[in-house]
Formats: sequence, C-alpha cells, structure tokens
Amino acid sequence: MVRIGCVPKTNFHQRIIAPSLLAADFSRIGEEVARAATAGADWLHLDVMDGHFVDNISFGPAIVRAVNESNGIFLDTHLMISRPDHYLQRFIDAGADLITVHVEADHDVGKTLQRIRDAGLQAGLALNPDTPIERAVPFFDQIDLLLCMTVVPGFGGQAFMTEVLEKISMAAELRASEGHSFHIEVDGGIDAVTAAACAAAGANVMVAGSSTFRAPNMAAAIRAIREA
Ligand code: DX5
Ligand code: ZN
Repeated sequence: MVRIGCVPKTNFHQRIIAPSLLAADFSRIGEEVARAATAGADWLHLDVMDGHFVDNISFGPAIVRAVNESNGIFLDTHLMISRPDHYLQRFIDAGADLITVHVEADHDVGKTLQRIRDAGLQAGLALNPDTPIERAVPFFDQIDLLLCMTVVPGFGGQAFMTEVLEKISMAAELRASEGHSFHIEVDGGIDAVTAAACAAAGANVMVAGSSTFRAPNMAAAIRAIREA
C-alpha cells in the first residue's frame, strides 16, 4: 500500500497536527479517518484506553489495524494501558507507526521503548500532568517523542491545564542542553489558542480531538492550529 501522509523523517522544528480519533463518529470510522487526512492532518492520534490505567475504555489493536488498512496516514498510537509491555506486539502488528507508552504504567520503561525501536517504529514516552520531567530524563536517548499530557488522561473535551506549560519549557531546555532531537507533543484541550502557548513553550506536535473532528470546518480548524 502507498502510505500517503506518512512522514517518518520529521523534525522537532516542524509543526505536526494529529487529530485524535476519540472525538470522531465511531459509527463511520473509515470515513472519519479519510476526512481528517483530506482536511490536512499530518498524523492520526489513536487513544487506546484499558479501563484500568485510565477510567475509560476506548478501542484496541483491531481498530488500529482497521484504520491502518483503510488509510496510509501516520498512526500516532497513545497507549493509556497498565501493561504496555504485554500488549505491545499486538499494536506493532496492527500497523502503528509510533507508539507512546506512559512512564507511570507498570512496566520496564527502558525495555519497552527499546522493543518499539527494535521493531522499526518510533518510540514515545508520556507524562501525566502531575509527573515531573525528571521521570523522563533517563530515557531521553531512547525516545523520538515526549508527550506532555495537558489534561488528566481518560476523556476528550477537557480543559487545557496551563500549569503544564512550565514542564514543556523545561523539556525543551533539557533537550537542547543534552543535544537530543525528539518531538514534544501536547495532548488535551488543544485548539488554536492553547496550541500557540504550547508552541511558544517548545511543543511541536499538537494532538487535537474535539477542536478538529467536531469543528464545523475541519480543514480550517487544522490550519488554525498549524498557524497559531
Ligand atoms: C485524553 C486523550 C486525548 C484526547 C484529547 O486522554 O489522550 O488524546 O482525545 O481530546 P481533546 O482534544 O478533545 O481534549
Ligand atoms: Zn492521546
């Protein structure tokens, strides 16, 4: 399959917009994915929730596989699950391009990140809003993306937590001083206004669910976040 929209070699100076499928109409998933790609999405963000790590259940590898088979867009897969190590291979096999795991989950973080890269995928590490940047620093040379959650994960449509901006700035400073080049992604309550604040702090990958899929004009919403 021709993987249109797949951008494996991006860098952190590039603004990347990743609409979150969680805010899409689940009765028409294939059409919703195509709508996001046509509207200018760079990546598609897939929120996997197990009802244990977070208080919600979304979807698993079968949906990731179906999305991958329906569209070539780059799949940014966010695992909000307690045992990412146990389920990892299923998401790799399903066609994820980048897999993000939480530092707070119950696994050997370094080992899981290594397995993601060994499989030829990009590896991401996520921090909940309350988790300090120090928890991620030991893994900086093992990641392609650092996700700073800007809401407590579990649900779409929550309000952006301004206090996370300081952690984003610290992450960008540490990245520069230590010579790393991973993306900094933000997720939760992102629209054109909050994206501007996040970009100013050093984030370049903007996950946006409600503000894209539920906008009257998705292309205009994505453009606004890109230009913010
Ligand atoms: C929250 C998820 C987000 C969510 C964002 O737990 O990780 O990706 O879909 O939704 P919005 O953009 O509506 O806040
Ligand atoms: Zn997410």
